[in-house]
Amino acid sequence: MSLTAEPMHARPRPPEQLEALFGEGWPEFIFHDPETRLHIGRIRELFAGLELVLLDGDEPVAAGWAVPLCWNGEVSDLPAGYNDSLARALAAYDAGSTPDTHAVLAAQVHPDRQGAGLAARLLAALCEDAARRGRTRVICPVRPTHKARYPLTPIERYQAWTRPDGLPQDPWLRTHVRMGARVLAAAPRSQVITGSVADWESWTGLALPDTGDYVIPEGLSTLRVDREADTGVYAEPNVWVQHR
Ligand SMILES: CC(C)(COP(=O)(O)OP(=O)(O)OC[C@H]1O[C@@H](n2cnc3c(N)ncnc32)[C@H](O)[C@@H]1OP(=O)(O)O)[C@@H](O)C(=O)NCCC(=O)NCCS
Repeated sequence: MSLTAEPMHARPRPPEQLEALFGEGWPEFIFHDPETRLHIGRIRELFAGLELVLLDGDEPVAAGWAVPLCWNGEVSDLPAGYNDSLARALAAYDAGSTPDTHAVLAAQVHPDRQGAGLAARLLAALCEDAARRGRTRVICPVRPTHKARYPLTPIERYQAWTRPDGLPQDPWLRTHVRMGARVLAAAPRSQVITGSVADWESWTGLALPDTGDYVIPEGLSTLRVDREADTGVYAEPNVWVQHR
């Protein structure tokens, strides 16, 4: 394996390779967050240079991206989560502030290459990129990969679950902590996704006949449906970690 990292947009990439890398791994509902949609176009344009790809030879095997924002290092000043990080990055840009913090907002490993340590290599490359840009802090609102198995458990409890060796029970959180990252705080409302009942039925493939709470496929928490108001609301919980 010969691994290198470079900016995603440094050169054209065969679309079929990118489809293979990005084709799975996310629930449909995550692509329908109205607040994300408000900001994401501008974010991806302004900060396109902060997207990195990890190559094995010529093949893209992992990718991730970050946004620059201002954070004073205190838990109380952390963004509320993923969406708030987008907003904070744009606010810093518009105010002409010098960002001191790199917030890594997404990471993905090719489905056929997971479980082989590539995620840590990608995170290391993102941390090195932050250091090169003079950003003293790297934080991530981690989407714990096994949380969907425990949708009823509050994120504050889940993030504290450890194995006998003291490392987090969740595999993705474990990768961060094994690299030396520190769990800072829960982000119980990292994204809040609202849609009509019909939207949610199509995103989840479930019939939602009653008002009430539902466990949904790949949901990290439950979906609250209000038939009378014709809404479904889902709050996506993440966990803030800080890398060294
Ligand atoms: C989250 C993600 C980037 C992690 O990548 P990864 O390559 O699985 O990460 P790692 O190699 O560090 O594996 C983490 C742990 O999960 C285990 N694991 C992951 N995939 C596995 C698989 N397919 N088979 C066996 N074990 C696996 C690893 O063995 C490791 O466990 P360990 O700590 O006991 O060694 C990857 O799962 C992914 O792309 N998921 C879809 C998108 C996503 O959810 N991104 C995160 C939100 S930002």
